[in-house]
Amino acid sequence: MGSAGLSPTAALESECAEHFHRGHAIALGRGTWALALALRGLEGRVSRKLLALPSFLCQTPLAGIHHAGWQPLFVDVDPQTGLVPDSEWAKAVELGAAALMPVHLFGNPADLEFATALCRERKVFLIEDACQAVGATIAERPCGAFGDASLLSFGHTKTIDVGSGGMLLTDDAALATAVRELAARQRYAAPAQHDARALEAARKFYERKDRLLANPGSEAAMLSGVIDDWLGLVPAPWAADAPGIARQLAVLRASAAERRRKFGLYAELLRDTGIVPLRMGAGAAPWRFCFRMPGLERGRQERIAAAMRARGLHISNWYVPTHWMASQTSRRTGALEGTLRLHAEIFQLWLDPATDDAQIRANAAAFRDVIAA
Ligand SMILES: Cc1ncc(COP(=O)(O)O)c(C=O)c1O
Repeated sequence: MGSAGLSPTAALESECAEHFHRGHAIALGRGTWALALALRGLEGRVSRKLLALPSFLCQTPLAGIHHAGWQPLFVDVDPQTGLVPDSEWAKAVELGAAALMPVHLFGNPADLEFATALCRERKVFLIEDACQAVGATIAERPCGAFGDASLLSFGHTKTIDVGSGGMLLTDDAALATAVRELAARQRYAAPAQHDARALEAARKFYERKDRLLANPGSEAAMLSGVIDDWLGLVPAPWAADAPGIARQLAVLRASAAERRRKFGLYAELLRDTGIVPLRMGAGAAPWRFCFRMPGLERGRQERIAAAMRARGLHISNWYVPTHWMASQTSRRTGALEGTLRLHAEIFQLWLDPATDDAQIRANAAAFRDVIAA
């Protein structure tokens, strides 16, 4: 028990509620589980279980949506920012979405003014996905403080990284109670079983992705349903290092500033190469140095990434458009061209605390060599 008589987890929940200006903070095993429980908690309050979300994000939220029995409605992103244009949210509401889920992708805070007003007017719920944006702010207010509920993740590579863990934040007391009850009633897999499942799901995912690369144009056939292997990974019991999260929370402002500085350093080092850094908001907490090579096609993108990895350097060219992976019926606002373009043009280079300036200079120099070859 902590000094105030609270368990470390309860103390962390209380610190998070205060930090993120929320009435309730609920520690859950992962961000994906927080999403699934938020959706289930809202079930009785919607006439249609249809959630609008961008198609460009990590694949696990889709598993959370399927797990909760909701249907995804995919909206497009602006490739310049990775964020959803207001017009896409308007289309989603017209198509009957009961909830919108803006994502502060790559730590880039999304302007939520339009979506918030739209949700209020049309009685649609807003779930803020701040999993990649812990430490980011919008006009000095922390991401995690917006909408009916917010999701945080403390998983591997996140800005607060303790390997795993998530949090649901809300001001809605009824939702908070429903989520706590659902979480307590859940029967969770044993850790060894969970780990074995995770390995197998990742193996199948990468195998299908590699097959897709060898057979471009076969996206639906190659990836449809791949997310089903993730369903068993959604319910995750809370087992995170609460004091470790609290320690990182206390220095979040400084760590976000350091991430912005490193983002700027990469941009300066690669300034004359034709790359375009993602346009980040002033309060960003960049997850990585995310940039595009306009006009790039998938094959060359993959070859550049492979050449960097052959030099022993980290680079990512994520994500696979999520609508390719939906197994149950999904809907979309249109052709999602911004998502497809970003998918083909994006790269990310590391800027986490383990990546110092010398490593950043080495990464940038190697990237220059590789694209010149
Ligand atoms: C944007 C986004 N949302 C949700 C999640 C899910 O978080 P977790 O891995 O804690 O389930 C992630 C994690 O990678 C993410 O990047």
